[in-house]
Amino acid sequence: LGRAMRYVGTVGSTQDEVRAWADDSRDPAPHGAVVVAERQTAGRGRRGRAWDTTHGTLVFSVLLDGPLPLPDLALMPLAAGVALQAACGVGGLKWPNDLLSADGRKLAGILLEADLRGEEARRAVLGIGVNVTAAPPGAAHLAEFAPGVTRAALLARVLAELERWLAAPPADVLEAWRGVSVTLGREVRVVTGRGEITGTAVDLDAQGGLVIRPPGGPPVTVHAGDVRLVG
Ligand code: BTN
Repeated sequence: LGRAMRYVGTVGSTQDEVRAWADDSRDPAPHGAVVVAERQTAGRGRRGRAWDTTHGTLVFSVLLDGPLPLPDLALMPLAAGVALQAACGVGGLKWPNDLLSADGRKLAGILLEADLRGEEARRAVLGIGVNVTAAPPGAAHLAEFAPGVTRAALLARVLAELERWLAAPPADVLEAWRGVSVTLGREVRVVTGRGEITGTAVDLDAQGGLVIRPPGGPPVTVHAGDVRLVG
């Protein structure tokens, strides 16, 4: 990953830049191509949220060529979270892949967008934003815990860890994720497309879903949703 790389100034979203590059018939981006931006004017996060690209954040997107079978795609956000935590060397993962500092502030986020074709994805774009030397209000930045960290060094580390974890066997990804989770064992409230579930986050299932045990009820597995740690 990252053998083809473009460093750009201000763009809307690096997610769209890497797609446009992949679709450029004269010079199409190869698998693993990376676009890094200095600033984004329309950075986006999971579930339709905006991602604030302030000064001091590392923002980039990686092209992952397909075809990618859906089960592989399901574990990719978790694998990317494990890679990000390993590269940053601090914090823990809130399901599926937010990197939080020990006191629960957000350090980094991941957005995986897949271009689906039938039962597979013809390609996916993995976008990562890390607060390196500055952060929006209420969030944390990496230099608080790793003084002297630079965006260039961090980018190289994240790409190396992604290369390793995106190719790792599913069981290894799940085990590594459990090891750096700040979600399992906690009381959570999860907002899904179908409503809200409150309970204890007890495990991951084989597809990377979060298993929640509501008080007095049978376990429920969530495959997409927004987790709030409540206890
Ligand atoms: C989240 O926490 O909800 C995910 C945040 C992902 C942000 C990154 S920044 C680089 C890439 N370009 C975007 O527009 N979003 C991702």
